[in-house]
Order: sequence, then structure tokens, then C-alpha cells
Amino acid sequence: MTIGLFDSGVGGTTIWREVVRQLPYESTLFLADSLNAPYGEKSTEEIIALCEKNTEYLLDHNSKLIIVACNTATTNAITHLRAKYKVPFIGIEPAIKPAGLYSQTKTIGVLATQSTLRSAFFANTCQHLLDKGVRVLKREGIGLVPLIEEGKIDTPEMFALLEQYLRPMIAEGMDYLVLGCTHYPYLTSLISEILPENIRILDSAEAVAKQTKRILSQNNLLAKGEVSPTHLWLTNKQVEILKSFAPPQVKVQYEKF
Ligand code: DGL
Repeated sequence: MTIGLFDSGVGGTTIWREVVRQLPYESTLFLADSLNAPYGEKSTEEIIALCEKNTEYLLDHNSKLIIVACNTATTNAITHLRAKYKVPFIGIEPAIKPAGLYSQTKTIGVLATQSTLRSAFFANTCQHLLDKGVRVLKREGIGLVPLIEEGKIDTPEMFALLEQYLRPMIAEGMDYLVLGCTHYPYLTSLISEILPENIRILDSAEAVAKQTKRILSQNNLLAKGEVSPTHLWLTNKQVEILKSFAPPQVKVQYEKF
């Protein structure tokens, strides 16, 4: 049996990397639903329908646990998925809690998609921080995911968008920037060029992989290392783009799902 993961596109591979690093005996099946990217501009109902489609594909292909490797899908659909399907789900949400805890200026910034920032799930976590006196500066990363999906990462267009989104948050005194979308870790080096040195960048990949390990172990589902693991990434759009993100041990294929 395998660990199933899905995202609206290539972003989920940032989570996949950390999962495979922490769980080297596990086989994985990752779905990049790039045909339907970006999820961040869709309604909750549309996101739920796409998550059901991805979940059912992963369940039909032997998944023992599913990682929703997408903040937008998690914040809009994970409660629904957990109620509908029996398999354990691991979700990912913007790491604003730890950022709020570590922040010296009590001002943190979060860059995420529209649907994540507008979800009740996110509003709830935000409220906890506000109650503790932490200011959360929110910014929608409009246009970033489509560019990453086209492989246009290190481009003047991307840099200009990032500057536009980050400058106001820098001016307001944030000392932590939370990357609230699994696509954004691919922008870390560009973002570092814009941020002053005192601002730290946080994402959730490490915490998600740790939680995956904990849940597999609690359910007695950890692979024992008796067979060598296999890794398959499927995309329903351009296979060459997904391939450009893949390490050598991964097989990448086109599939209609
Ligand atoms: N990678 C996604 C996330 O973490 C979704 C991006 C999108 O499709 O808008 O939110």
C-alpha cells in the first residue's frame, strides 16, 4: 500500500520531498491536478468536488493514508473529506501559529491563495492569534500559481508580483513570512532577495511529514522496509513541466483523472 498525495498542481511536490525524506521506506502516489489549477480562485463547492475526485482516484489505487498537499484544499474541504471517507487524512494549513509564537514584533505576514485566506478554517486560526495580540497581515498571491504551473519561476514577471505583494508587509513590520501555499517554497530564493535579513520564512512541510509519520505509526501502517519503495507522480496536464520538478527516483506520467 502507498501514501497518496494530491495538489492542484506541482506545489504538492514540496510536501512530497519532505515526506520521502522523513519516511524513506514508504511508496508514494502523487496527483498533480494541473488541469484544474488554480484551486485558489474557485468556490468551496468546486474545491470539494475536485478533492472528492482526487481522493477517489487515490483510494482506487491502494492508498492507506492521504495527504492533502494543498492549503486551499485543506482549508476548504478537509472536514468534508474526513466525514465522507474512512482513510486517515493529513492536511496542511499556513504555519501562522508557530510564526505567531516566535514573532518578536508580534506582526506576521502570510501569503496564500484567495480561497485559503477567505476560508472559515483560516479565520478560526487567525482569531486565536489575534486573541494573543499577534497582528496577521494577509496577502493574496494572485497570479503566482499560474506562473509556477508554466515553469516561469525565475522571471522578471514573478519578481515584480512578489515585490508588489511583499513590500507593504515589510513596511508594516512583519518579522515572519508564512508561505501559505505549497507552490510558494519554489519562490524562496526570489523572496529572499526581496526580504530584509531579519525576516524569517516559514512553511509547513516539515510539520506535515512529522504528523504523517505519527498517524501511520498510530494506525500500525508504517512500511517496514522489506520491499524497495516506488514513487509515481501523475499529471492530467503537461508531463514535461511536472518532470522538471522530479528527482531521479520518481516515475512521472500523464493520466486522465
Ligand atoms: N498549492 C495550493 C495551496 O497550497 C493551491 C494553489 C492553487 O491551486 O491555487 O494552496
